[in-house]
Amino acid sequence: MKAIQVGLLGAGTVGSGVFNVLKRNQEEIKRRAGRGIEITMVADLDTARATSVVGNGAKVVSDARAIISNPDIDIVVELIGGYGIARQLVMEAIDAGKHVVTANKALLAVHGTEIFAAAHKRGVMVAFEAAVAGGIPIIKALREGLTANSIEWIAGIINGTTNFILSEMRDKGIDFATALKDAQRLGYAEADPTFDIEGVDAAHKATIMSAIAFGVPVQFDKAYVEGITKLAAQDIKYAEQLGYRIKLLGITKRTPKGIELRVHPSLIPTRRLIANVEGAMNAVVVQGDAVGTTLYYGKGAGSEPTASAVIADLVDITRLHTADAAHRVPHLAFQPESMSDAII
Ligand code: HSE
Repeated sequence: MKAIQVGLLGAGTVGSGVFNVLKRNQEEIKRRAGRGIEITMVADLDTARATSVVGNGAKVVSDARAIISNPDIDIVVELIGGYGIARQLVMEAIDAGKHVVTANKALLAVHGTEIFAAAHKRGVMVAFEAAVAGGIPIIKALREGLTANSIEWIAGIINGTTNFILSEMRDKGIDFATALKDAQRLGYAEADPTFDIEGVDAAHKATIMSAIAFGVPVQFDKAYVEGITKLAAQDIKYAEQLGYRIKLLGITKRTPKGIELRVHPSLIPTRRLIANVEGAMNAVVVQGDAVGTTLYYGKGAGSEPTASAVIADLVDITRLHTADAAHRVPHLAFQPESMSDAII
């Protein structure tokens, strides 16, 4: 069967990760998807950068619309970010009947209702595993693994930059401004880190999880958002002396009055696993009525961890596309001709 054709919008850090991982693991991914997945076009304003990422492995264009209007493209992957042109292109791709994969949490948290409604009407999928907690498959956990549960609450460290800053302030006793500079130097924080340190990025992600867990529309505007800028090294030290660690948590919770949605620094007893999530790592705790407490931990950002989530969505959509029903769900079909590794 012909490979499914993918067009990438954006050839930055995540785009190059998607290209590299797909290439490196192509045989395994093909086996799991039931069909090959090929990036055939890449759009980036910086065509030289895009060419250096894909070599001659895909056609590079500067105009994203060349991808959206191409009838051979089945899936458009949006890796541009932000609410502006990304929103326009995602809506146009849906309109053109393309499935969309996006890592854009800001876009979904603010315009998700409009986007999902358009996709529903057009009969295409919008998949967004990479939008929340990078490489941690938390969207699939909520949607698939925990689907039998009534979710009671979710609490997560879902911004790596702020977790890194808080870890540095505690370990080194340095102040917020110095820790932020370290985070920027190491490439964790953006040049303009406002969304990270003011809790906005975590609120975007919590908004998306809330919508999935509780079946409510995405409502970022209703979130209570407080970042870490007012924390001093002393707050962290005193918390530690009392047996607590301060973490920026994204929380969403079912209550008799409605769904809570909030982001703020929280005191967590140090004996809890999540209190010990250090550096730029992410972790999400989900409480379901049937399963009890579950915990998901991993890298919330970075080229290949985020690519891992993007490609998982590509595989999902490819499975649903294939005519072979056996491939529509993940399976363990043994294919001796392609298995070079035997269990020893
Ligand atoms: N700025 C985000 C973070 C990147 O620090 O977690 C991943 O969404």
